[in-house]
Amino acid sequence: MAKEKNVFESVVSHCKEYGFVFPSSEIYDGLGAVYDYGNYGSELKKNIKEYWWRSMVYMHENIVGIDSAIFMHPKIWKASGHIDGFSDPMIDNKDSKKRYRADQLIEDKIARYEKDGKTNKAAELQQGLDDALVDNHLDKLKSLIEEHEIVCPISGTRNWTDVRQFNLMYSTQMGSVADDANEIYLRPETAQGIFVNFLNVQKSGRMKVPFGIAQIGKAFRNEIVARQFIMRMREFEQMEMQFFVRPGTEMQWYRYWKESRLKWHLALGTSPDKYRFHDHVKLAHYANAAVDIEFQFPFGFKEVEGIHSRTDFDLKQHQEFSGKKLHYFDPELGPDGKAIGNYIPYVIETSIGVDRMFLLTMINAYCEEEVINGDQKDIRTVLKLHPALAPVKVAILPLVKKDGLPEIARKLMNNLKMDYVCQYDEKDAIGKRYRRQDAIGTPFCITVDYDTLQDQSVTIRYRDSMKQERIAIDSIASLIAKEVSLNRLLTE
Ligand code: GAP
Repeated sequence: MAKEKNVFESVVSHCKEYGFVFPSSEIYDGLGAVYDYGNYGSELKKNIKEYWWRSMVYMHENIVGIDSAIFMHPKIWKASGHIDGFSDPMIDNKDSKKRYRADQLIEDKIARYEKDGKTNKAAELQQGLDDALVDNHLDKLKSLIEEHEIVCPISGTRNWTDVRQFNLMYSTQMGSVADDANEIYLRPETAQGIFVNFLNVQKSGRMKVPFGIAQIGKAFRNEIVARQFIMRMREFEQMEMQFFVRPGTEMQWYRYWKESRLKWHLALGTSPDKYRFHDHVKLAHYANAAVDIEFQFPFGFKEVEGIHSRTDFDLKQHQEFSGKKLHYFDPELGPDGKAIGNYIPYVIETSIGVDRMFLLTMINAYCEEEVINGDQKDIRTVLKLHPALAPVKVAILPLVKKDGLPEIARKLMNNLKMDYVCQYDEKDAIGKRYRRQDAIGTPFCITVDYDTLQDQSVTIRYRDSMKQERIAIDSIASLIAKEVSLNRLLTE
């Protein structure tokens, strides 16, 4: 059964077979760590983004959205620290010519120590790794690799280069003259587009601190080692929100967003055991507190979302590098009865990867169940997606392709398709059609049969329980509306 089998491998092949995710440029043998979303995947991804956008922008009167350009002035990346500091420590094996992230090689070794019950060794190596990362100490990483006899997974040798920093940003040229002055970058995070628009949004929206700006968009990182399918990609999508607050109140808002974001995840019905918080030991150059929301993937607990208290670092840097004042005038009265006045706001950021959320959703939903089919046992593969996220909401199935049943089914389809993604299917036996819908996570199948001709009712079949009941055609729309509503998910 799926839960014992390698769920991850099953999900990856399910994604391909059922049109959720394809390797990019597949007919040209693919492109490393770049993926395309297929017919059902693009719908699921759209629904995940919609759930996030509504919860952030529509449910908070003090949060608004923007859509900033991917190309930005190159000075932005100097100001943000990405040109000098956005790098990973890499090491090459001279025999296999393969490149690795030095910290990931060490993490893999820690996992192996733990698996073999060598908990002291694991703890000692973890401590060494944390120290090396806090100090950004490349030689220390190399000596840990040597001391713990870490070998290249391909060549099996310990013939390593030194550890070097590798900048993760992609650069390209703007305009036709190829010199350094025209070098620009593909953004490695969407956040900077929000920071540089802080005053535009504050003024045009007459926003008062505390307020937030949300954005969904593509980001690009030349990851040294991209692995685990859409978990770590070179082109991916982020949903980020910067919440601008009065200095001194940031920890209160940090706690608020930490809890609020976990609630957003749990509202989808996922078991709370599958999530945990992981406080950062090594803080990014801009943060004074940071926590990851981690999900239990089949390959262990991994980060899905980060909540970062970014201080006033980014706005201050952009003020300095642009020469434009990025102050906010706070008209509220302080304890002395005077207006609080000008300051650069502090920022709490919530940042989640759409693709990681997609993978989490698929892994969480994927089930292989034993079912009885006549006198035989059978396995059904079903995606138990939350109905609000499911790519197709309703399948309309005439029992047979004749006697007026397709006409009624088509009429029903035409009524429902204005509001919901529906699928009409009249091919194959009804059981087979149910299975096809199970595999893409359709929560409701409506079957039009001979009784429909007499009593204007249909059979509705529920995906998870496989229960079937008769309902009047007139009541279908309201039943579906209630079950697939994103708004219900946001308010319950
Ligand atoms: N603005 C802050 C920031 O970008 P991050 O922790 O580097 O923080 C935030 O990224 C989220 O983006 C991560 O929690 C993860 O979900 C997603 N993410 C980061 N790198 C990714 C990659 N290479 N592929 C897919 N998702 C990625």
